[in-house]
Parts: sequence; C-alpha cells; structure tokens
Amino acid sequence: MSLFITFEGPDGSGKSTQIWRTAEFLRGLGHEVLLTREPGGTSIGDQIRDIVHDVANTDMCSPAEVLLYSASRAQLVHQVILPHLKTGGVVVCDRYADSTFAYQGYGRGMDKEALRLITQFATQQLKPDLTIYLDLDPAEGLKRKQNASSAGEGEWNRMDQLALDFHRRVRSGYLEMARSEPDRWLVIDAMDSIEAVSQAICQRLEHYLAKTPQSHV
Ligand code: TYD
Repeated sequence: MSLFITFEGPDGSGKSTQIWRTAEFLRGLGHEVLLTREPGGTSIGDQIRDIVHDVANTDMCSPAEVLLYSASRAQLVHQVILPHLKTGGVVVCDRYADSTFAYQGYGRGMDKEALRLITQFATQQLKPDLTIYLDLDPAEGLKRKQNASSAGEGEWNRMDQLALDFHRRVRSGYLEMARSEPDRWLVIDAMDSIEAVSQAICQRLEHYLAKTPQSHV
C-alpha cells in the first residue's frame, strides 16, 4: 500500500515537529516512510531552492518563480516520490503543489488555470492522498520565524519578506482550498499544543488507513 501525505503551513507552525512525529507514527505501524521537502529534496532541487529563496533575487518575475518551484517539484516527483510510492511506501512531503496555488496563485494573484496546467505537467498528475494544513495567523508565524532566524535557526527567505497582506491572502487561499476538498485536507489550529496537534493527525491517519487502501502504481 502506498500513501502520499503532504504538510502545508508556515514556518513557526510546528510543521517540522509534526512531520517527524507523523513519520514515526507510521513507521510504528510498519510502513516504509520517506521524508522529503520542497523546494529541494534532490540535488537539482536544492540548487533551485538556493536561487528561488535568495533574498538578493529581488528582480525575479512571478512566472520565473512559479517555474522554478515547479521544476524542483518535477525532479522530486520523478526521482524520489514516484519511485518510493511504486515500492508501496509512504511519502511525507514538507510542502507540495498546494504551496504554488497558495503563494503564487492566491498570494501573487497568478492565473490559477495556468498554475493548474503547469502543476499537472510537473507532477505527472500526482496528487496527495492527504494534506495536513497547520493554520497559524500570519503575523504570529512571521514573528516566530523572525525570532528563529535571529537566533541563527532556520532561513529567512525571499517569500518571508513579502508584506503581511500577501501572507494573509496565502492563508485564506489555503482555507478555501481545504473547504473545496474536505476529504483530502485536514486543517489544524497550530496554536494548539504539540500533543494535541499530533493526536489529531494520528487520528485522521488511522481513520484514513482503515477505510482506504491506496495505490499509486
Ligand atoms: P522554507 O524555508 O522551506 O520554510 P517553510 O516551509 O517552513 O516556510 O520555505 C519555503 C518557502 O517557499 C515558503 O515561504 C513558501 C514558498 N513556496 C512557494 O512560494 N511556492 C511553492 O510552490 C513552494 C513549494 C514554496
């Protein structure tokens, strides 16, 4: 049985901790779990990540930005995600195509139909079985990320420095996407305790695993 799970939500939402816990939970159930992230996850993707997140690249136009994220994704799907799913494993990915719809679509206002076509092309139409969105007020998220970055933990990137309004549009985009596909999305309040968030995720996974034998092969 293969399963593709993605996590969305801002840095500071506890995403990394929850990804780690989810992987451990699934390993405990006997699954072969592969953790990866976007942009990056491959050598080519990591090189793209450096370009797309470099705060010096203030002149990057939106189409170039979306194509760079999509190029990283195409490589990751081809080289890492699909091969693992084909062995019957579980892939847990820190961000995926929903980030493009949220940031470039809702945030930057790019044409969603164009994004849909680019995404289909880049991903070979691979969609997550389950997407967990850790919802956090953008002001709180940016504050947490700024604190972490001044303490020398985590990276302050080109997207972080966009205005608060941009991040508010991103958040409402996520919530809208989640409402339109409730079977795929789980929205969790990231202000809840680590334990409570983790429990909500595990419950949803147990429910999912009990009812849906998935296969991408
Ligand atoms: P990252 O440093 O990985 O941190 P986090 O996921 O914890 O926020 O930052 C990824 C950034 O890239 C984040 O600001 C969202 C942005 N992004 C897009 O704008 N579009 C995309 O398609 C993806 C994958 C990410």
